[in-house]
Amino acid sequence: MKRRRTIQDLRDAEVRAKRVLVRVDFNVPLADGRVADVTRIAAAAPTIRHLAAMGGRVVLLSHLGRPKAKVEPKYSLAPVVEAATRVIGLPVQWCGTTVDAAAVEATRRLKDGEVLLLENTRFLPGEETNDDGLASALAALGDVYVNDAFGAAHRAHASTAGVAKHLRPAVAGLLMQKELDYLGGALDKPKRPFIAILGGSKISGKIDVIEALLPKVDGLLIGGAMACTFFKAMGLETGNSLVEPERVALAKELMDRAGFRLTLPHDALVAPAIDQPGQARAVKRDAIPATAAMYDIGPESCASYARAIAAAQTVLWNGPMGVFETPGFDAGTGTVARAMAEATKRGATTIVGGGDSAAAVEQAGLAASMSHVSTGGGASLEFLEGKALSGVECLDQVGA
Ligand code: 3PG
Repeated sequence: MKRRRTIQDLRDAEVRAKRVLVRVDFNVPLADGRVADVTRIAAAAPTIRHLAAMGGRVVLLSHLGRPKAKVEPKYSLAPVVEAATRVIGLPVQWCGTTVDAAAVEATRRLKDGEVLLLENTRFLPGEETNDDGLASALAALGDVYVNDAFGAAHRAHASTAGVAKHLRPAVAGLLMQKELDYLGGALDKPKRPFIAILGGSKISGKIDVIEALLPKVDGLLIGGAMACTFFKAMGLETGNSLVEPERVALAKELMDRAGFRLTLPHDALVAPAIDQPGQARAVKRDAIPATAAMYDIGPESCASYARAIAAAQTVLWNGPMGVFETPGFDAGTGTVARAMAEATKRGATTIVGGGDSAAAVEQAGLAASMSHVSTGGGASLEFLEGKALSGVECLDQVGA
């Protein structure tokens, strides 16, 4: 992987008294007009503090939600100002627009070390279509471009990619670099044994990542309802479990190709329905009743997955083992999270892909016990699939 320049490669003169335009991913959940989870803000804070400490005039750009290229007040970033001020530990100024004369003026009023947040980039027509006119207008908001929005790096939008055509230097922030180092390190030079654990409900969203990881891992452990499509391919009864009939042939083909490297759960936790965890019981995978469905991996699988994690030096996890939001169906996901926390303690590298598995690790209070929890759901999957990320490709290369 080509190394990108980062803010640590910037010289003092490239930052001091300069307007540093930083694309962050402050796409955070809101509840009752307040930020409900500050994880993504905390993850970007080191970059913002670093640039402010160097005397940069920090201008923050982000999207929030999926407004349709027009102002939708419920997606305003205004509620983020208070949380960002608290979490970053620096006063964050606010501008209710993004790219008009008032926004440019607000960036010009900034003093060294000050921080300004602009309104949601997705209110602008042209953001998601990566319009070059908008990219050039965004570039007028800064003198240097920093992309720290790993979570949005798979989007070729004006604020994540296009703007870099008009603004140099264009470098990675500390979070972006950390994400690329951990995820890229696992793919390029993992300490072995290297195992990946993939879960979630659908095999369809994970095919490319399975294909990409198979040649690199020593073991691939499958959990979640996705396992049932493989069970179907083995000719097993899957009851009312979620199965993707159109993927059964592919599941068979993947099993044949992967051989012993692919592990499926040996047992399953089944129940008559998702709202009946009280009726859950463990059965062997070849004994799933026709009237029940699998909602978690079973206890034998929990034990064997924990053993596999205990023996590994690099563990990469993406996707829950069961319906972890429901007590009673959360044992598999909790087991993987705890086993990974233990593995971290003895020196293994443990990486949690974003999205649901990151939420599960948070819920278990174990996020700080992992080597790295990615802030990107879709972005980490695309990266692991081996796809180039537009928000990274647009940045300066080291030595170029
Ligand atoms: C995310 O939450 O995964 C990122 O912020 C990207 O958001 P998007 O899927 O709406 O582009």
